[in-house]
Amino acid sequence: VRHLLGIKDITPQDIQLIFETADQFKEVLSRPIKKVPSLRDVTIANVFFENSTRTRLSFELAEKRLSADVINFSASGSSVKKGETLLDTVNNILAMKVDMIVMRHSSPGAPHFLSRKIKANIVNAGDGTHEHPTQALLDAFSIREKLGDVGGKKIAIIGDITHSRVALSNIFALQKLGAEVAVCGPPTLLPKHIGGLGVKVFWNVREALQWCDVANVLRIQLERQQGKLFPSLREYAMYFGINKKMLDELNKEIVLMHPGPINRGVELTSDAADSHHSIILDQVENGVAIRMAVLYLLAGRA
Ligand code: CP
Repeated sequence: VRHLLGIKDITPQDIQLIFETADQFKEVLSRPIKKVPSLRDVTIANVFFENSTRTRLSFELAEKRLSADVINFSASGSSVKKGETLLDTVNNILAMKVDMIVMRHSSPGAPHFLSRKIKANIVNAGDGTHEHPTQALLDAFSIREKLGDVGGKKIAIIGDITHSRVALSNIFALQKLGAEVAVCGPPTLLPKHIGGLGVKVFWNVREALQWCDVANVLRIQLERQQGKLFPSLREYAMYFGINKKMLDELNKEIVLMHPGPINRGVELTSDAADSHHSIILDQVENGVAIRMAVLYLLAGRA
């Protein structure tokens, strides 16, 4: 495998190998010196055409922990603003002897397009509404860490499913690992083809919470909705927002996840996001080990 473009393209065995490799890197990251020399001969460019906090910093840290040389590119402030194309931009970066591209882009399929044009390894760090494979891997890894296994668990993905690349990659990853997956949200934020993905559908958030072992809560992706938001944020918070009282009133413990960034007071209240139910910051911590594993395996170092 030369690229990680999506979870759809990889096998359950690939995911298990990534998890076992990430287990080893998590142990490395617990040491006083959190660094290994594995990729000291590799140069990686983080090429971001869309904003990011967690994914960009987590990839950069993963690369540095593996001793790779790292360069960072953001479209804002670059010559993309003068009209340079995606392919020209990446070919110019590769001319500087770069081996791997980690890429985020607002167009679904942008990394797939590049993978047919360039020789370097590509990791998709989120392509529009399509996939965000390393997010799904770190989410499933965090469930495995918390509950011992992903297989047989009931996972509800709650929020704006239509515009979420996290939802699609999570559905693929969790199903490949043997979990039962449900989605929950207002009908306007659930894609029409959702039934074809083999997921259960809830329109009532309390029913979804009562059903699941894990609730993975997503934000409303305002930037992808071209001003036609229905329901409004206030209505969404009223009918689909999750607070700590709702979690405490369930007759069981559930695990609360969110990929970030959280819109506090919309999909989650602060008392829920910061409660003992939440593993949100564990997800962020695990992202570094997962990304180290992905880069290490793509570089052929297994
Ligand atoms: N989860 C996630 O992709 O966050 P960022 O957009 O901050 O990278």
